[in-house]
Amino acid sequence: MTDVEQKTALVTGAGRGIGRGICETLAKKGYRILAADVDLDAATTTAAVLGEGHRALELNVSDSASVDRAFEEAVARFGHIDVVVNNAGINRDAMAHKMTDEQWQIVLDVDLSGVFYVSRAAARHMRERKSGRLVNISSASWEGNVGQANYAAAKAGVLGLTFTLARELARAGVTVNAICPGFIDTEMTRGIPADIHQAQLDKIPMGRTGAPSDVGAAVAFFASDDASYITGQVLEVGGGYRI
Ligand code: NAI
Repeated sequence: MTDVEQKTALVTGAGRGIGRGICETLAKKGYRILAADVDLDAATTTAAVLGEGHRALELNVSDSASVDRAFEEAVARFGHIDVVVNNAGINRDAMAHKMTDEQWQIVLDVDLSGVFYVSRAAARHMRERKSGRLVNISSASWEGNVGQANYAAAKAGVLGLTFTLARELARAGVTVNAICPGFIDTEMTRGIPADIHQAQLDKIPMGRTGAPSDVGAAVAFFASDDASYITGQVLEVGGGYRI
């Protein structure tokens, strides 16, 4: 693949966990990666792990000015962004009756508004180019999960956003799809108390956690030419958690 043909993928929350796994999978497929994270050191480590030609980008998805600035920089530097993966996300779990305004708001800001700000910047760029792929990382929790009113509301919102953007961008040659990971082994899930961790595993027919690369493979499919007629779809990556 020559540099002129090389596609560029921007991944948010690329500093660790699933985001880094997505970057590794896409890099192996030949994409040039823009590893974006609010934690620039972590993004820089990801870019270094990937090797030459990949770049780190400081981007706070919950700050629309930061998002627009990062996109302008990225487009000025690389000319085009072909794939955008909305992966950055946080959780601040608490039972609804104990959840603080701050716990509610920060999760909505990062996990839902963040996806909107990044998608809006991507849509402006991709509409002009009449091509592009947006892949949004939602969660199995979108259907509701005890202790996750904020997170479930945000992740359900991501699906509504996905379906709307898929309709709005379809004629512009841009596909928009979502992935709902189940229980993936990352720092986010390693922080869960042991009894709840086991209870989550018990719900999974395959009886084990997934790896970031499992999510990466699903992203790579939606980004590929093989998926050019697929938009507004949701793919569960979770060892069969819903069967
Ligand atoms: P993680 O906590 O290991 O990594 C999240 C990354 O996002 C970190 O590098 C962090 O610095 C970055 N980040 C946080 N806030 C940000 C912001 N405002 N702007 C830019 N970057 C920011 O999380 P993990 O497990 O890798 O999750 C990634 C995504 O997958 C999240 O959206 C999460 O909700 C989703 N997910 C994870 C599951 C799991 O089992 N780990 C299951 C379902 C969904």
